[in-house]
Amino acid sequence: MKKTILTGIKPTGQIHLGNYIGAIKPALALAQSDKFQPAYFIADFHGLTKIHDSKEFKQLSYGVAAAWLAFGLDPNKVIFYRQSDVPEIFELNWILSCFAPKGLMNRAHAYKALVDQNNQMGRDVDDGVNMGIFTYPILMAADILLFKTETVPVGKDQIQHVEIARDIAESFNHHYGETFVLPQYKVEEGTAILPGLDGRKMSKSYNNTIPVFAEPKRLQKLINKIKTDSLPPEASKDPSTSSLFTLYKEFATFAEVENMRTQYEAGIGWGEVKRELFEVMNRQLEEPRAKYNELIASPETLDEILLKGAERARAVSVPFLKEVRRKIGLSV
Ligand code: ADP
Ligand code: TRP
Repeated sequence: MKKTILTGIKPTGQIHLGNYIGAIKPALALAQSDKFQPAYFIADFHGLTKIHDSKEFKQLSYGVAAAWLAFGLDPNKVIFYRQSDVPEIFELNWILSCFAPKGLMNRAHAYKALVDQNNQMGRDVDDGVNMGIFTYPILMAADILLFKTETVPVGKDQIQHVEIARDIAESFNHHYGETFVLPQYKVEEGTAILPGLDGRKMSKSYNNTIPVFAEPKRLQKLINKIKTDSLPPEASKDPSTSSLFTLYKEFATFAEVENMRTQYEAGIGWGEVKRELFEVMNRQLEEPRAKYNELIASPETLDEILLKGAERARAVSVPFLKEVRRKIGLSV
């Protein structure tokens, strides 16, 4: 039996370069290994905690699906589905809620950050907090535990959520005997935290992103907006503190990176670095962009692929949920 490796992306914004480098690219590299059965999905019901415009929600969900496929996800190899197409996740979500201490949710960082923000602004602690946000980690535990996942590749910010899934699984197993596999997170240490236009971490929350499928003109424009210092072109520059260099490294060949390093030392103008950055980025993104545009124009194709994936997912989730129901004393 292959080990399940599972991860999800929530459709709360356009896929940006940080998502690609930090999440999609490493997950697709892991999917190449024959040791694993990868299950990658669109966490649309997690996205609903934030996105309450139906049209936008639909488009963002298709956008995430098209992005995975455009970067080479093979739906014959990866079990690739939309969370909302697998109802067993939501039944398990309730079951797990009954094993999730409320105190554990109080400490979950996304919820805590909202409460802290409310406190700082002198607002009511619960302002803008829906129950979906509060119980977000339980739904994520259901995503993970339903497929007996061993490994969850995620960014650092999601470590706590995987630990919560483990805690809930342990509590259930303690009551009913070995049922759930205890999942482990896998954080890609070697991967850069990609900086955004303002030099902070590229993130939807900071409005500083470069959408990964921006058309060449827009891509060039956004690259031109990346903040630099005011050193003159001839001054020697430090690659280790340059956002442009961090980005360049992710898209250029080894020889190109070494060459750029030499140019930094010798003195190169920021305008020239930006031009070269655009060249290497566009080179790598051209093909996936065309594929993405094709897919996004054909939602029927995306639906077909995702529904087939959901069928494969349900071949696992339906019998396993029956086992869980039996264990807790329900008729199956
Ligand atoms: P955002 O910060 O834009 O809201 P998400 O939290 O939805 O992004 O992240 C989705 C995935 O992309 C996560 O696995 C996260 O670790 C990864 N990711 C997001 N931003 C970056 C970044 N700037 N550099 C590297 N990885 C990132
Ligand atoms: N919470 C994750 C994020 O914000 C998305 C997600 C939902 C997920 N369910 C998951 C990731 C299960 C890994 C496994 O990025």
